[in-house]
Amino acid sequence: MTGLVVAMDGPSGSGKSSASRGVARALGLRYLDTGAMYRAITWWMLQQGVDLADPGAIAARALDPVLTLGTDPDAPAVAVDGADAAGPIRTAEVTAAVSAVSAVPEVRRRLVAQQREIIGTGGIVVEGRDIGTVVAPDAAVKIYLTASADARALRRTAELNDTTVEAQRTAMARRDTLDSTRATAPLAKADDAVELDTTALNLEEVIAEILRVIKEKA
Ligand code: DC
Repeated sequence: MTGLVVAMDGPSGSGKSSASRGVARALGLRYLDTGAMYRAITWWMLQQGVDLADPGAIAARALDPVLTLGTDPDAPAVAVDGADAAGPIRTAEVTAAVSAVSAVPEVRRRLVAQQREIIGTGGIVVEGRDIGTVVAPDAAVKIYLTASADARALRRTAELNDTTVEAQRTAMARRDTLDSTRATAPLAKADDAVELDTTALNLEEVIAEILRVIKEKA
């Protein structure tokens, strides 16, 4: 599996993270959560008091924070300027702000460069929104996960403890619209990606199906 790159894209709540980690674990591959990178830079901008309504202000600071990513699927670490950010990047505040930061081209340019560096010669499962289209267009395997809005909202609600299905459905719809309509690298299915609807599947079934696709393609 050396050299293999598995690109996993799809909207939030489609089951990307659990499936990506499960696949990496099953095949002894590394794992990169690119969403954690956009979240980490957003967390840093919030701490610095950067005006997130001003794309120019975001762009001006895009290169300043140092992000460090771990690639162990069992313990995906993320640090900003040496400080552990794994907890803080999952707060509702960061989740609400991340679409504005990830729409800024200067932010994407720097993170895509770092993502390609981490991917290196491969042996990795990479999850995000633009992996099959922009970050790793030559990936041997591209999966695009989807699920119904209800299923996605239910999954997110089960992961968080301070929300309702209704609130999640609204928040996710807003984020999906922002992520898929932005000018730079919007959420999109690559032409050569295999689409997998996970609405009626459990995690084991999703992982088994992806492993089947990898066996067939790689
Ligand atoms: O997967 P996630 O919910 O942790 O991602 C957080 C945000 O980051 C999401 O709203 C869109 C953005 N993102 C992106 O623009 N490109 C990626 N490759 C990954 C995430």
